[in-house]
Amino acid sequence: MRLVVDDLQAWYGESQALRGVTLEVRDGEVVTLVGRNGAGKTTTLRCIMGIHRQKRGRISLDGTDLARLPPQRIARLGVGYVQDDRGIYSTLSVLENLTLPAIAGGDAWSLDRIFAVFPVLRERARHPGTRLSGGEQQMLAIARVLRMGARLLLMDEPTEGLAPLLVRRVGEIIREIKSHGLTVLLVEQNLRFATTVADRHYLIVNGRTIEDLSNQAVAERERELLEYLGV
Ligand SMILES: Nc1ncnc2c1ncn2[C@@H]1O[C@H](COP(=O)(O)OP(=O)(O)OP(=O)(O)O)[C@@H](O)[C@H]1O
Ligand SMILES: [Mg+2]
Repeated sequence: MRLVVDDLQAWYGESQALRGVTLEVRDGEVVTLVGRNGAGKTTTLRCIMGIHRQKRGRISLDGTDLARLPPQRIARLGVGYVQDDRGIYSTLSVLENLTLPAIAGGDAWSLDRIFAVFPVLRERARHPGTRLSGGEQQMLAIARVLRMGARLLLMDEPTEGLAPLLVRRVGEIIREIKSHGLTVLLVEQNLRFATTVADRHYLIVNGRTIEDLSNQAVAERERELLEYLGV
């Protein structure tokens, strides 16, 4: 799926959070949006998903205008949102978390296919969501949007708070998702991790995308970019 965002602006009441986000994710690409705290990364994903309504600008998916559609319609077009809080229902089991949301897109993964990519979820199928580790919750959140049939995944800081081993595991999962032909827009603050999974990167500063960077450009300018990110 091809996502195009052009001059997106967004507000919370009087306060402007996005001042010109322009980006493109081509079919089958993994692209990251990197920027420091408060730069507007989550707001960008919420605008694309139709959750944030106070916005202006163009958002299109395979040529379809998304800017005025409600979230359920956008989900049905094949967009899955893996939120930063992971959105796991804590009182439900892993299996219920996977099977309860309605299948929205046409490419829903079967449970067998999900368990082949996420064996830990098969082991934990009967456990309540709350008993999962942070890494397992992240796997479940990703698995759930695949189960719902997403072909474009919007992922908000999936590695946040995870131990290095699990960060690597999330990286493997994203590469695996890409190998299935899916498209990913990934919000990250971890620049090193970003270059291990993504094809390209957009740097967002104060609500504006200011650069489109290749992996090589990130490697060459790592120090400068880390300063931008405030790490
Ligand atoms: N619910 C809200 N009400 C008012 N302002 C908000 C709200 N959510 C975010 N903002 C403001 O919008 C701007 C962008 O926030 P956003 O959450 O999109 O940033 P972010 O890049 O995701 O940051 P982080 O790295 O901390 O997750 C910030 O200035 C933030 O304070
Ligand atoms: Mg955020």
